[in-house]
Amino acid sequence: MSDLPSIYFDNAATTPMDERVLEAMMPYFTSNFGNPSSVHSHGRNARVELEKARKKIAGLLHASPGEITFTSGGTEADNTAILGAIAAYDIQHIITSPLEHHAVLHVVEQVAKSKNIRLSLLTVDKNGTIDLNELEELLQNKARTMVSLMHGNNEIGNVSDLKTIADLCQRHSAYFHSDTVQTVGHYPLDLQSLAVHAIAGSAHKFHGPKGVGFLYTKKNKKIPPMIAGGSQERNMRGGTENIAAIIGMAKALEIAVHHQTLHREEIVALKKYFKKEILAAIPGIVFNGLSGDLENSLYTVLNISFPPSDTNQGMLLFHLDLAGISASGGSACSSGARLGSHVLQGIGADASRENVRFSFSRFNTREEVDYTVNQLKELYA
Ligand SMILES: Cc1ncc(COP(=O)(O)O)c(C=O)c1O
Repeated sequence: MSDLPSIYFDNAATTPMDERVLEAMMPYFTSNFGNPSSVHSHGRNARVELEKARKKIAGLLHASPGEITFTSGGTEADNTAILGAIAAYDIQHIITSPLEHHAVLHVVEQVAKSKNIRLSLLTVDKNGTIDLNELEELLQNKARTMVSLMHGNNEIGNVSDLKTIADLCQRHSAYFHSDTVQTVGHYPLDLQSLAVHAIAGSAHKFHGPKGVGFLYTKKNKKIPPMIAGGSQERNMRGGTENIAAIIGMAKALEIAVHHQTLHREEIVALKKYFKKEILAAIPGIVFNGLSGDLENSLYTVLNISFPPSDTNQGMLLFHLDLAGISASGGSACSSGARLGSHVLQGIGADASRENVRFSFSRFNTREEVDYTVNQLKELYA
């Protein structure tokens, strides 16, 4: 057996599932296995629990149950919101940012092209901050507009001011969708007071199972389904619901929201410690985006730009992996590529430097930070 540690600093890609979540899910694979659409007792029992999960998730986000649709994850929720709003409101202009996740960027690019819709990508500065004045100027245009701007950036950790953006969109009668996949469960969300029309959540980002998520759509802003089929999810998404995963997601969100302040404090302290230690260990470290700013970035993300080094050039993630440390070069799909990330390219990050995203959860420890910083110190000695 190798005595190599197994350190996981890639929690923005996915998080380990909480044992309590697994426990809550287990009966739905075996005893309570019914199809929620069946009318017999097995089906009805599953339906009762499915609706309880919906009510719980809605309550935790200050939404109503009818505003929650279960999906296969964040990507499906983003796609459904964007394609649905474009169809329902005959959108003529889409405003988004070049730093969105591909779950948004690829769908808006495709639909803008196929439906000949004007697409505006906001300019971002070198820290990845969008210009709200530019957004307001674009909104002056009287075209039927959809704005899609994420809450927390999965690579550089920038957190946007959702309320200000939502209010601007409301003032200009634009449809507003936000990819909140990195913030659901981690930040308070009050969907009743926030003027957002659609958001996306994904359970595996808050210690729930993979392959399940939800779409929130405001009740007075109906959109059509993306997946046609049976009448599940009040005709919003055909297909038998993944009941065990949905139960797990509700449990995971309950734990996340009930302990949000405590978890946040613990993880902020860990990030602060990592930042302090790495700055002391390696001269020439800088942080990408706003991730080094503890006030204005996701407390789960620290994206580090390392000084040029012949031995680590193109090899740093591999060296870390050999030392038992899992981190990433950007989003999961661009792991291993130094500047394969469209986000780092979008902010003009220096390609001669190694850029590594470390992302944290409540399961990480200071000992793991110490070991990682020591390994990095040796690699840069
Ligand atoms: C910001 C953001 N949006 C969307 C997604 C996609 O979510 P899912 O993996 O549930 O499809 C991710 C996951 O990487 C993400 O970080």
